[in-house]
Amino acid sequence: MKRILVTGGAGFIGSHLCERLLNEGNDVICLDNYFTGSKDNIRHLLDNHNFELVRHDVTTPYYAEVDEIYNLACPASPPHYQYNPIKTMKTSIYGAMNMLGLAKRTRAKILQASTSEVYGDPSIHPQVEAYWGNVNPIGIRSCYDEGKRASETLFMDYHRQNGVRIKIIRIFNTYGPRMNPNDGRVVSNFIVQALRNQDITIYGNGSQTRSFQYVDDLIEAMTRMMATDDSFIGPVNTGNPGEFTMLELAQKVIDLTNSKSKICGCSGGVRFVFCGRQGPLHLSVHPVLRNQGAGGRAWNSTLPAE
Ligand SMILES: NC(=O)c1ccc[n+]([C@@H]2O[C@H](COP(=O)([O-])OP(=O)(O)OC[C@H]3O[C@@H](n4cnc5c(N)ncnc54)[C@H](O)[C@@H]3O)[C@@H](O)[C@H]2O)c1
Repeated sequence: MKRILVTGGAGFIGSHLCERLLNEGNDVICLDNYFTGSKDNIRHLLDNHNFELVRHDVTTPYYAEVDEIYNLACPASPPHYQYNPIKTMKTSIYGAMNMLGLAKRTRAKILQASTSEVYGDPSIHPQVEAYWGNVNPIGIRSCYDEGKRASETLFMDYHRQNGVRIKIIRIFNTYGPRMNPNDGRVVSNFIVQALRNQDITIYGNGSQTRSFQYVDDLIEAMTRMMATDDSFIGPVNTGNPGEFTMLELAQKVIDLTNSKSKICGCSGGVRFVFCGRQGPLHLSVHPVLRNQGAGGRAWNSTLPAE
């Protein structure tokens, strides 16, 4: 039995990770300040004697004897991370330093939940781990993107300077149960609008594409990454190689929820309604997650998007 610390454990992804680690027979400490997470997400785990819940903010040091640390604490959706951008930056940077310090003292292995946003507004598609990104240090999203980039830097430096055993994964869009319905992400927005039979609004002509991985696939990738040899540190992109357009996503959500919603477009300030089906949903598989020799080992989701 391993003693495992999950920061941000009461959030969407963290709660699934705690559940998985407990099911595997581990002792799990879930640490969270409940900024975007909630006790409701982990209420079903509270009776488990191997589960411990700690209200704590990662910007201040925390000490416990642990074997592994998964560092997930950070608001992940734009309205939440822009609410207090200075705090977001502190959470990424002080949080990483405090958890890396703990890993150094306890000789624990530590995994950083980084993000595809470290690539910024990428000029190559698909992004590979060897690509350094096209980033903006002064925009309103920089508190998140640059905070995550700085935390990757801290992870690498603790590894090079102090021999801390690190793993870095860069998570692409993830969806699943316990997503916050009000966090402004496209999947939850579309589902909420469809369930209320409200118009689903798409910006532009709807041809912009995204990929979405189901949370179970991500949890599998995270635990496999943690189990890799100490010599393997990543970074590794984790996501679904199937991309589809916003129009296809909206149509899929309407079909699955049996909704009466209409799909509306908004382009150049002009609002319009898309008529009829917009072609079949295709999940074209392409190598989003290729290994490009930067230590990256690709992880592809296995579940289709629905
Ligand atoms: N969901 C995605 O699609 C996605 C994509 C890329 C990266 N990620 C990363 O995965 C991690 C988890 O994301 P999520 O979608 O579950 O978001 P989430 O907001 O549901 O979870 C984040 C958790 O961290 C906690 N937290 C925030 N600041 C904290 C602090 N200072 N101290 C302690 N706890 C704090 C929140 O209360 C919450 O429980 C984040 O680091 C995020 O950047 C997520």
